[in-house]
Amino acid sequence: MKEKLKAIRDEAITKIQQSGSLDKLNEIRVAYLGKKGELTEVLKGMKSVAPEDRPKVGQLVNETRTAIEEKLEELKTQLAKAAREAQLKSEVIDVTLPAKKNNVGHRHPNTIALEEVERIFIGMGYEVVEGPEVEYDYYNFEALNIPANHPAKDEQDTFYINDQIVLRTQTSPVQVREMEKGKLPIRMIAPGRVFRSDEVDATHSPSFHQIEGLVIDKNITFADLKGTLEQFAKELFGEHTKVKFRPHHFPFTEPSAEVDVTCFKCGGKGCRMCKGEGWIEILGCGMVHPRVLRMSGINPEEYSGFAFGVGLERIALLKYEIDDMRLLYENDSRFLSQF
Ligand code: DAH
Repeated sequence: MKEKLKAIRDEAITKIQQSGSLDKLNEIRVAYLGKKGELTEVLKGMKSVAPEDRPKVGQLVNETRTAIEEKLEELKTQLAKAAREAQLKSEVIDVTLPAKKNNVGHRHPNTIALEEVERIFIGMGYEVVEGPEVEYDYYNFEALNIPANHPAKDEQDTFYINDQIVLRTQTSPVQVREMEKGKLPIRMIAPGRVFRSDEVDATHSPSFHQIEGLVIDKNITFADLKGTLEQFAKELFGEHTKVKFRPHHFPFTEPSAEVDVTCFKCGGKGCRMCKGEGWIEILGCGMVHPRVLRMSGINPEEYSGFAFGVGLERIALLKYEIDDMRLLYENDSRFLSQF
């Protein structure tokens, strides 16, 4: 019996040492220690062993089982370790390789210009608000004192959805929506997309952006308008910038003006940028027409205000010395990556 057990043990250990895989180890475990395994068979044969020898044989069987189990465990650990080392080797990372270039995009020149304008007005206590791009004719025209026969309503300029609904041609309707809310005073700018049925060329696009401004309070005068817009121009184009208010006509303001700034390229001497003029037009503005105030439920005897409208693309083109508006929309990364 003793020899038999020793033979089983030696044979099992040799097989274990040659196994080479976890699956194989498992097969060996079953073959020797399983229910029908060789050691179990030996135990079954205990009946034929003399009772006084049984404890001794039992002990021998246990020792053999323990020896085989220990060997199995040892090989299992060895194989796992080898597998892990092989894996680590195959997954080696070369930390000296140059990193992949991370091509992060950046803000569009329109966005950069808009954020600059917003920063300036927020600094003066203005709120940034928005209005709908698909707008009622009433807000886009009527409530801004633009009557039905006004040239701005000409179908050539306006995209009509139906009789009463248009794609807004200007951000000025946001003025009306803000005034109708009835919360005074108002200090707001309203940036957004506007639409006109224009052919595309270097200075026109059927879709572009404006930034509307509106201030309504008691005792607001043209002096407030001038001071505000002068400060705006200086912050946007540099502190040496001078402004000029040229009389103009807008139906929703009275009096109205267009604002020119001294050319920031030549300082006013005249150059290619300002087409020899020394001045560049940047926006329209005026004192809100009493009729417009009244239509929006504000008493012009008690309140007054000023408004202005800036073309965002115009600011971006000027600031970055771009000579063709189409470049802003073509999405050519060779152009866009310059800003
Ligand atoms: N809405 C005008 C336009 O699209 C621009 C404008 C002029 C807006 C004068 C104003 C303003 O608020 O006071 O041409």
